[in-house]
Amino acid sequence: MWEVRVTPSGEFDNHPFESPHFETRPLASAMGAEVVGVRLPDLSDEGFEDFKQALYHHKMLYLRGQHLTHAEHEEFGARLGPFAVDAYTKGVEGHRNVHPIIKEAETKAASLFGGGWHTDSPFLPEPPAITTLRQVEGPPYGGDTSWTNCALAFRHLSKTYQDMLRPLRVWMSAANNFATQEKLLGKAISFASEEEYQQGMRGSHHPLVRTHPETGEESLYICDTYAAGIEGMTTHEAKPLIDFLVAHTTQQAFTCRLRWEPGMVALWDNRLTMHLGPNDYDGWRREMYRTTTAGTKPV
Ligand code: SIN
Repeated sequence: MWEVRVTPSGEFDNHPFESPHFETRPLASAMGAEVVGVRLPDLSDEGFEDFKQALYHHKMLYLRGQHLTHAEHEEFGARLGPFAVDAYTKGVEGHRNVHPIIKEAETKAASLFGGGWHTDSPFLPEPPAITTLRQVEGPPYGGDTSWTNCALAFRHLSKTYQDMLRPLRVWMSAANNFATQEKLLGKAISFASEEEYQQGMRGSHHPLVRTHPETGEESLYICDTYAAGIEGMTTHEAKPLIDFLVAHTTQQAFTCRLRWEPGMVALWDNRLTMHLGPNDYDGWRREMYRTTTAGTKPV
């Protein structure tokens, strides 16, 4: 007899992070919070330290009514740490660390940037730690972004399964994604450079269970778009394991979903989350800009 799958229970603790500098309002039980009462460029040094701790606690934060310029966006990104290399774009003119994600109203595409569950660029030896994203223009409905809490998903595995996963190393490579995008779009996707393309193909091996460098929290490091194998396993052995972990991690209980508004800014911690960009707003323009903060080698 099998146990039927039921929604996970217990150990959901997305209580509001307390700070004298701003208020946080949790978005879902699993993760995410709105930050209220501050404009990002006005955060004091002390407020900014609290803001980072709030991010580590909630894993995704968002703020309404920010309406940042490219310069303000880049300055805020720089406060989070050195910028990461973006494999896909060279940034906007005058602000090379601010990367556009724009879909025009008349564009119809079978696939969009970030359209599958992923963590940013895990194929790099030192994948980005934090991503910020802001909306300038968006559809009246659709175009939401979803995130999932991979640390919470890890805690909801049995101890036996957790212990089995801990010594494993996942091969993160962009090869499957490049091939899928080419098939769907009928053309090769563009890269910032040939070196970025080659690194994406080659990929990197990382711990399948990683430890957050700031908080010590353990998390699955899994990715539907880029996890392409498990070190020492055949493809036939690795694929069902990866598929199970993705299905487990992306179940609704571990996620949150953001309804964007122009002027909004969101940021998330790639070290223990995946996210999904939508492809459900044909006929509407969506104009977004993002920055990524460099990370360290996952351990
Ligand atoms: C991304 O994957 O960074 C983009 C998400 C989005 O456009 O909502």
